[in-house]
Amino acid sequence: MSASETLPYPIHPSILAFDFSRVADEVRALDAAGADAFHFDVMDGHFVPNLTFGPMVPRALRSVTARAFHAHLMVYHPDAYLSQMAEAGVRRLYAHPESTPHIHRTLGAIRAAGMEAGVSINPGTPVEALEPLLEMADAVLVMSVNPGFGGQAFLPITYRRLGQLRALMARLGVSPAVAVDGGVDGGNIAALTRAGMTEAVVGTALFAEGDPAAAMRAIAGAAWGG
Ligand code: DX5
Ligand code: ZN
Repeated sequence: MSASETLPYPIHPSILAFDFSRVADEVRALDAAGADAFHFDVMDGHFVPNLTFGPMVPRALRSVTARAFHAHLMVYHPDAYLSQMAEAGVRRLYAHPESTPHIHRTLGAIRAAGMEAGVSINPGTPVEALEPLLEMADAVLVMSVNPGFGGQAFLPITYRRLGQLRALMARLGVSPAVAVDGGVDGGNIAALTRAGMTEAVVGTALFAEGDPAAAMRAIAGAAWGG
């Protein structure tokens, strides 16, 4: 691996926004610019109204970067894909409580498969739904759009939800990573960080001006600003 930069804030580029005709090159460029992890959006066309890819994409890219891979399962029957994701080199797996009646079991199975367990909630799911799950979770992914597509408008209700999550975490005495996914950019990253976000998933905003590495640096640089 070539020498890498370190960013002042953990940014997780979303593969969904990449140019798939040159996805490996884009991964290399963002790796060198300091991306903390890469975010893979797995969609089944049922849980969300879009279809993307399964474990073959992280598996194919595993040799391109040593950065962590996080997969965000937007699928029904998430348990069916856990072992394939682990074998594909995924370090953290996010599953949705809205996608399965057995999310508690799923989070345990993710850990048992050797991955970090992540729980992701849609904007319409009360934050309180996380109460029985947080002790099972290494990370929470707060959706700031209704999942299914990149490039959607950020939902401001996210700030209130982050406050509720922070209060719940304090009450339970747990401190999972708190990632936010959907419409995150240089304009809202500082407010999100103040509200409790600790990691940012960023897709479309990296590609707005043609130099994703420069955009990532700028977005990370804005995280601690006023
Ligand atoms: C939405 C996905 C997101 C999405 C984020 O369903 O979960 O990860 O790719 O992309 P932007 O930053 O374009 O909203
Ligand atoms: Zn995602």
